[in-house]
Amino acid sequence: MKKLVVLSGAGMSAESGISTFRDSDGLWERYRVEDVATPEGFAANPALVLDFYNQRRRQLLECKPNAGHIGLAALEKYFDVRIITQNIDNLHEQAGSTKVIHLHGELMKYCSTYDLNTAYPISPEEPDLHLGDKAPDGGQQRPFIVWFGEPVPMIEPAIEWVREADVFVVIGTSLNVYPAAGLISYAHKGCPIYLIDPKDVKTQRTDIHFIKATASKGVKQLTELVKQIK
Ligand code: APR
Repeated sequence: MKKLVVLSGAGMSAESGISTFRDSDGLWERYRVEDVATPEGFAANPALVLDFYNQRRRQLLECKPNAGHIGLAALEKYFDVRIITQNIDNLHEQAGSTKVIHLHGELMKYCSTYDLNTAYPISPEEPDLHLGDKAPDGGQQRPFIVWFGEPVPMIEPAIEWVREADVFVVIGTSLNVYPAAGLISYAHKGCPIYLIDPKDVKTQRTDIHFIKATASKGVKQLTELVKQIK
């Protein structure tokens, strides 16, 4: 089967009720990145940061995958679909996608302040992390999230996936944050690239097929377009 590789961002989950970061009502309008999404912010006020992610985790537990997530999972009938997401929600997996790389971590997992690479599941029954909760290695439990300035260990496998892509699809990302945004440059010259977003997105690639739509409508249009390629 041909490989269809997706890079998704916050816009993928907008119709599921999860706010994006840089839209007018985005998360970064209400919180300072330095306070809640950096190791320095966590060191300065760990309780505030734990609470910020506890709130987002509780919100995620009320959300469902939208038709965009479901449509991408359905494409596994025709393609070897591989999803690279910047999102920390698990809505791609809930929709049935079987190959997902999370570049920026996962909200339903925690790690230790001593070891950022070993993840432990968070139970939906006890979704909060608290100051003083220890990981098995004795470190403080912290969100399994890649904060600004921290390494992005999954970028290497993600680059391999894009290099091997027969079709590359970008959905719901402003392509503002690197190294994720740089992935588009690894799609080989002849690889058809589709970009789904209701707004224009600046990108250095000129060989792109823009689908100006939300994720749910755009994935429907994409499915019709790529059926000829399979
Ligand atoms: N369907 C598809 N796209 C949408 C929708 C929708 N319903 N609503 C908004 N969008 C688009 C916006 O037009 C924008 O281009 O989704 C994109 C969201 O961009 P950002 O808010 O910048 O989110 P993202 O690109 O995922 O941010 C990247 O920044 O803060 C960090 O770690 C965080 O992973 C995040 C990274």
